[in-house]
Amino acid sequence: MDEMLTRALLHGYRQVVRPGLFRARGGDAEKIHEDMIRALGIAGGLPGAVLGAGSSVMGTGKGVELAGISFPGRVGVAAGLDKNGLAARAWAGLGFGFAELGTVTAQAQPGNPKPRVFRAKQSDAVINRMGFNNEGAAALASRLDGWGVRRGNAALGIPLGMSLGKTKVTPLEGAVEDYLRSLRLLADKADYIAINISSPNTPGLRSLQDGDALRELTRALVAEAKVLNPSNPVPIFVKVAPDLTWDALYEVIGTCELAGVAGLIATNTTLDRKGLKGDDVRLADEAGGLSGAPLTVRSRAMVARIVQHSSLPVMGAGGIMTPADAQAMFDAGASLVQVYTGFIYNGPALVRGINTLPHN
Ligand SMILES: Cc1cc2nc3c(=O)[nH]c(=O)nc-3n(C[C@H](O)[C@H](O)[C@H](O)COP(=O)(O)O)c2cc1C
Repeated sequence: MDEMLTRALLHGYRQVVRPGLFRARGGDAEKIHEDMIRALGIAGGLPGAVLGAGSSVMGTGKGVELAGISFPGRVGVAAGLDKNGLAARAWAGLGFGFAELGTVTAQAQPGNPKPRVFRAKQSDAVINRMGFNNEGAAALASRLDGWGVRRGNAALGIPLGMSLGKTKVTPLEGAVEDYLRSLRLLADKADYIAINISSPNTPGLRSLQDGDALRELTRALVAEAKVLNPSNPVPIFVKVAPDLTWDALYEVIGTCELAGVAGLIATNTTLDRKGLKGDDVRLADEAGGLSGAPLTVRSRAMVARIVQHSSLPVMGAGGIMTPADAQAMFDAGASLVQVYTGFIYNGPALVRGINTLPHN
């Protein structure tokens, strides 16, 4: 029964909704995404009964306790899907157990010139070079304030992570202060903070994954979280790139453990272009990060390595296109999973399918 309903949802989305969605707005992937977020923003504002009904159809799975947070389900919205939190009230109703809003930066910024999102349909993948277009951390904070969101109060039904990045015009030497500004604006609303140092689309950002820079950044953020709430500091997660060598990954793990980071998120998008198939190969030269099916194996391998080398909990992201991919990510040791590209290609059925996995 569970499986039949998930299959029907998947079929409906892939055969009916998706073709229309992908063709709408002249096929402009970013405009369609904005329409979807706007529509979900409206749906999320409808009376609670509608969302309640939604989540009973979508199931939630068994939930998990992690870093002092109670997650009602193990599949979350990956960062970038709802950068400004416009649809934050809708995610619980779609069956998500948490949502990572952002990435936001200390200053609002427009991101890179368009076009900056490219669908690689034959490969079940996306290339994006958005460049942290967002309204800024203060705008997200005030939007969430308006909905009564406070850390731990589950005002929108699920825990909310908030992903922080560096403002493009801030030089790398000012990165720590830039992240601290965003942290101060959001720490009393976020159930966890994700430090995004792994987007390929802000020049130099990934160098913050290196030795001293990462040490300084993680220590400063963990210390500030304690200053802001000495008895119960907001947990800080670090999101890593799939392109790190194993040695670089081990160094990141060691630095994060010493700094008191609560966990890792693996992974962001890749610069690699392996996995592009057929006509999509023509997109290989587009600058940006590749997500979706080409990432599945690499992201899972990163999660497995982290789990072998550390006791830090891991959220697994990258190429989770099917419930079986999520199961494999859990089997590799991920405590939670996040989806972005799989949700675009397969819709809410993916969330439901993960929530109703036999062992979930
Ligand atoms: C269009 C787009 C925008 C993204 N923006 C962000 C972002 O702002 N912050 C971030 O940490 N990750 C961002 N990501 C990366 C995703 O959160 C995720 O880590 C990655 O896409 C791998 O998961 P997936 O294969 O399920 O998409 C973005 C991905 C896409 C496709």
